[in-house]
Order: sequence, then structure tokens, then C-alpha cells
Amino acid sequence: MSASFDRLKAEILNCHRCTLSKTRNHVIFGEGNPNAEIFIIGEGPGKVEDLKGRPFVGPSGQLLDKILAACGFSREKHVFISNIVKCRPPNNRIPAIEETQACLPWLYEQLEMVDPKIIVLLGATALKNMAGNHHRITREHGQWLTVRNRLAMPVYHPSALLRDPRLKRPTWEDYKNIVRKYRQMVDRDHFSSFIRE
Ligand code: URA
Repeated sequence: MSASFDRLKAEILNCHRCTLSKTRNHVIFGEGNPNAEIFIIGEGPGKVEDLKGRPFVGPSGQLLDKILAACGFSREKHVFISNIVKCRPPNNRIPAIEETQACLPWLYEQLEMVDPKIIVLLGATALKNMAGNHHRITREHGQWLTVRNRLAMPVYHPSALLRDPRLKRPTWEDYKNIVRKYRQMVDRDHFSSFIRE
């Protein structure tokens, strides 16, 4: 990791910009390849993430890992994963506006440093905070948007897929689109045994 990314991590781990810092066990900076071409943005850490200090390691993280593996992507090589807020909102409530406003500048800095070609927005909270409050995940999942001057794809949050398995089929189509774009923009030989064309 570069010195500036390390410095940013140290600052974020020490953050007290909002009241979530009072109830957290860990600040979840994010993880993956700091030079990844895909930056995945979730909502905020859940219970397991807060205890372990890593993003997406609970039930929705396990599903996300399966989806990424089917796409031929790994956390180590292809993606960096972080969240709209870096500390767990109590009872997993949607983060409040004071919390997102305090935390988003950290995410913007991470985005500039990682400098990905593709952003994946997991669920409504990521979509609304990054693209604007009028956006709707039910309407816009699978459609390319421009977010902070980068290409971004909103997809259903894995926790929504766990609650309603009928969303899995349309979501798979959305990830196929992401793989196709990755092949166009980053690596034309990118291998996924499930997505050939
Ligand atoms: N859900 C999220 O949005 N982010 C995590 O890190 C874990 C679960």
C-alpha cells in the first residue's frame, strides 16, 4: 500500500467526526486491492463487520464473495470494498444524514486514491448517497451512471437478495454487464467460467 493510502487509513481509523464513533467496536476502512479497477460501495458495517473490523464478512458478505467469484473477481486482485459510513449504525439502521455527511469525504478520498474505472453501488443507500436522493434502486439497477466522473453500476444489495431470492436473477444480469465492461475497459481476456461472451 502506498504511504498516502496508509496515512488515510490511519486518519480514518482515528475518526470521531460523528456519534457512531461512540458505539463502534471497529472503524471499517475497507479492504481489497488499493489499485483495483473496481470499487464496491456498500451501506455500512453490520454486527459481524463491527466485531471483526472487516467489510462484508457477515451473511451478505458471504453472498457477495460468491457473486464475485462467479464473475472471476477476487478481493485480493480485482476489487476494493468500502462503505458509505465506516462505523456500524446501531441496530443496522440506515445511516443518518449527519453521519453520511461526516463520513463521505473519507470515501471520496479513497476513490481518488484507488482511482477505479468502475464503481459498483450496492443497494439504495450507496446509490442515493453517491448519485442523488431521487435515484431508485428498483428502477435503476443494471443501468450505467456517472458518479464522481466515473462509470458506476447500481445493483441490489446482497442483503436484499437474501431477503428476496427473486432478485437474484435480474442481479446476475447486472453483474454480467459489469464483467463485460471490465473486459472492454481493463482486461479483454478476463476469465469467468460463467460469463463467456
Ligand atoms: N452491509 C454493508 O452494506 N456493508 C458491510 O460492510 C456489511 C454489510
